[in-house]
Amino acid sequence: MVAKLLDGKKAAQGCLGKFRAALDAIKAGTGRVPKLCVVLVGDDPASLLYDRKKMEAAAAIGMDSELFHLPAGTTETELLALIAKLNGDKSASGILVQLPLPAHISELGVLSAIDPAKDVDGFHPLNQGRLALGDETGLVPCTPLGIVRLLEEYGVALDGAHAVVISDSNIVGRPLWALLLNRGATVTTCHIRTGDLGGITRTADILVSAAGQQDIVGARDIRPGAVVVDVAMIRDSKTGRLRGDIDQEEVAKVARLMTPVPGGVGPMTVAMLIGNTIRAFCMQDGIADVEV
Ligand code: GUN
Repeated sequence: MVAKLLDGKKAAQGCLGKFRAALDAIKAGTGRVPKLCVVLVGDDPASLLYDRKKMEAAAAIGMDSELFHLPAGTTETELLALIAKLNGDKSASGILVQLPLPAHISELGVLSAIDPAKDVDGFHPLNQGRLALGDETGLVPCTPLGIVRLLEEYGVALDGAHAVVISDSNIVGRPLWALLLNRGATVTTCHIRTGDLGGITRTADILVSAAGQQDIVGARDIRPGAVVVDVAMIRDSKTGRLRGDIDQEEVAKVARLMTPVPGGVGPMTVAMLIGNTIRAFCMQDGIADVEV
């Protein structure tokens, strides 16, 4: 078997085309433009790159965005003051605080301070809690939402499927557990300390890996005909090239469908962020929710 690619770049373009139409309708109807506010503390090069991509995607469809780039020594009090200001600013539709934050700042404290209606990452405890209770009417985390949309785009049946997710993070694993469960999948959540990981992944109809650990599963750990989603973006320990957790060439011989890295989950994450910003604008303005 040679796996077909789950082309996230193409699927994201499709989503962004719909978002552009929604944005144009909002502009025509309200005379206002949704704005994404990105907050970055420090100079982590990967975070800077991710934030640039998010802002470029916003600009490409005519959405406003602003980067609030604070020095690494910013105190939690200073960061909370900025968030309070953005919460009260009607022109700021969405607020995203890039993670990880420096160690002296409480991530939970900061994420909890964002107005849940502006929380376009979906990381506020209220939004995460709603999702865990099966309610997707709040703002839903972008990477897990992008994965589910990508699977749906390619007609992957979730109802009754066994999905194995290698991630216990608040960004990927936990919200993805909820999204998959909400769609009728049986979900097994694993992580880097799970024993006999291969024994579990071999039972997966859908395998999602977000461990950030090269070759955490090999081709022999994948059920023939499975769908494989690789969320990780790491440097190959031998070649230095960008890659995911999984050896694409080997896994392509076993899987039915798989994401490339790059060009798989990453573009879908960015697209979902743009969709969430439009949803946030609509929620704040009392506009009947647009389809995003
Ligand atoms: N760091 C890694 N992924 C994410 C994400 O989706 N959002 C934010 N804010 N930070 C991240």
